[in-house]
Amino acid sequence: MSGAVLVAGGAGYVGSHAVAALVAAGRRVVVLDDLSTGHREALRGAPLVVGSVDDAALVERTCRAHGVDAVLHFAGRISVAESVRDPALYERANVAATGVLVAAVARAGVRRFVFSSSAAVYGNPDRVPIPEDHPQRPTSPYGASKARAEAVLAASGLDVAALRYFNAAGAEPSLGLGERHDPETHLIPLALLAARDGTPLHVFGEDWPTPDGTCLRDYVHVVDLARAHVLALERLEAGRGGGAWNLGTGAGCSVREVIAAAGRVTGRPVPVVAAPRREGDPAVLVADPARAARDLGWRASHRSRLDAVVADAWAFLGGAR
Ligand SMILES: NC(=O)c1ccc[n+]([C@@H]2O[C@H](COP(=O)([O-])OP(=O)(O)OC[C@H]3O[C@@H](n4cnc5c(N)ncnc54)[C@H](O)[C@@H]3O)[C@@H](O)[C@H]2O)c1
Repeated sequence: MSGAVLVAGGAGYVGSHAVAALVAAGRRVVVLDDLSTGHREALRGAPLVVGSVDDAALVERTCRAHGVDAVLHFAGRISVAESVRDPALYERANVAATGVLVAAVARAGVRRFVFSSSAAVYGNPDRVPIPEDHPQRPTSPYGASKARAEAVLAASGLDVAALRYFNAAGAEPSLGLGERHDPETHLIPLALLAARDGTPLHVFGEDWPTPDGTCLRDYVHVVDLARAHVLALERLEAGRGGGAWNLGTGAGCSVREVIAAAGRVTGRPVPVVAAPRREGDPAVLVADPARAARDLGWRASHRSRLDAVVADAWAFLGGAR
């Protein structure tokens, strides 16, 4: 029988959906979260240890007390803009803390580790869709911190699966789970909040070399991401080896398409204001998800279709409330 899974950052957006997927798969789970951006109620009864991943003694004690033999690591800082303002914070929170965490879990006998990485490791792509062996030239301290954390983990000697998400989106409203970042920086919730509250949405650049002039991103449903973590863990447990996998649909949606979907789903206008391009924003970020299909048996489901993602995010926000 497999041991418990330590979910670091399990009270956050993606982590809470992964906890739900693990519990549904019959896994024993213990969450370690400092609640800096997470929400206790997102755990729906899963045991929570409140503390930081860079508290080595706490990590080691928690692993031993719960019989942990695998780790899913979601904990960290996630804002590109914040990372530009304070790169040292991202070095500490995303790179150094990952080093402390992996050393502590290894001392407690853990050998399997699944890491939340990001498409931000690639920077401005030379070609799309982006395969995993594409050169890495991150354009923000956030992306650089994810690439360096991957390197720290690769040197750890553990079996590591680095899952490079493209744009996590959607929610699981039936479980009361969804996206609640503060401040919110992600397009879909911002478009929905614009529709609900009338706060105009900023569109950063309308002169990109894309069909409608706005940036293209690959939105993948958070429930599909959560399922990929279970599959990655199963791969490591089967002794099939670690690696890096892109998680996306393989298709891009433009900012205008997202705004149109938010209008359709809510039945309300989405007020927008034009804003200048943001430095470091690639025009197009779309995953080549073929390796994940081949190695993990993972594909984005129908829930990752744009209108379905937006509808779930809207239901989580409480619809027209
Ligand atoms: N949301 C996305 O679109 C996206 C895309 C690519 C990669 N990622 C990565 O996925 C991970 C999760 O993202 P999210 O959107 O769920 O973020 P989130 O902020 O909702 O969740 C992060 C969780 O980690 C916790 N945490 C932060 N620092 C901690 C620490 N030192 N010790 C213990 N807990 C700590 C927070 O309290 C929170 O519960 C991040 O590593 C992020 O870089 C997210």
